[in-house]
Amino acid sequence: MTSPRVLVTRRLPEGGLDPLINAGFEIVGPRDDDTPYSSEELLGLAESVDAIVCLLTDLIDYEILSVGAAHSLRVIANVAVGYDNIDWRSAHRLGIEVSNTPGVLDETTADAAVLLMLAASRLTFAAESDLRAGDWPGWGITQYLGVDIHGATLGIIGFGRIGRAVARRAQGFGMRVLHHSRRETGEPGYMDDLDELCRVADIISIHTPGGPDTVHLIDGRRLALMKTTAVLVNTARGSVVDEAALAEALHAGSIFAAGLDVFEREPEVHPRLLTAPRTVLLPHIGSASQATRRNMALSATNAVAQYLQGGRPANLIAREPNSD
Ligand code: GLV
Repeated sequence: MTSPRVLVTRRLPEGGLDPLINAGFEIVGPRDDDTPYSSEELLGLAESVDAIVCLLTDLIDYEILSVGAAHSLRVIANVAVGYDNIDWRSAHRLGIEVSNTPGVLDETTADAAVLLMLAASRLTFAAESDLRAGDWPGWGITQYLGVDIHGATLGIIGFGRIGRAVARRAQGFGMRVLHHSRRETGEPGYMDDLDELCRVADIISIHTPGGPDTVHLIDGRRLALMKTTAVLVNTARGSVVDEAALAEALHAGSIFAAGLDVFEREPEVHPRLLTAPRTVLLPHIGSASQATRRNMALSATNAVAQYLQGGRPANLIAREPNSD
């Protein structure tokens, strides 16, 4: 019997491939120079593998899935908690399972959300840029005046694992924590009305999944509801915020500041955001600690090893009712 073949699209953190190696699987990819495969290349590779371990930068569309399903592709493991890069509904219809990496990156990503709250609220980017450019004239009582995060009202949008990890941190800052989510949580601070949360929060932090259901959830209209002192933080998916509208709000001063780790068309960043005042921009590093990225890789490769050996990994994405 030939051993299963697993396509690994990009280089993983050290040790990340161990579950596949230990299972004796044949590993295909990544390229020596770690450049991403094009859609055409993925399509070709999908014909000859049993599993794919991919990253959120790989678009796994219907075409790739149907070619894979017609051959031997049975499982796709996304090395990310979000999986809006995979047409997972089609995968399920075609009999292919999809897994993600829930649980292992919550705390690291929540740390990054707090980092952005602090950096954006306290204008650290502008202050440090001046200092590095030699433009700091010395201490001044009216310089770089930010807004406080301690005691502020935090509005968390999306109250899954990461949103809750942010809420725990916010308690330590003495914040009043409100949250909105698709389903009523019945927990203290729940707000059914997202518009109202936008109106009352001092800091808004986004923790929803990406995908069609949340595209531009924060649009120009909701930005206009926010306080002029509001700070918006996004460590979830760029598509949740209308970037052009956010850039305009920041330029116009209709909200105070923003901290963004994710963008609508990564790695492109909206040019008006690059020049927006009081804005901190990070290159999608929310989960980027050494330990967490390694655990994400292991979560994905363990899922593939388990599934191809007849098991049912706990991190398979649940099928929607009637998806078969
Ligand atoms: C990162 O953005 C992830 O979804 O894991």
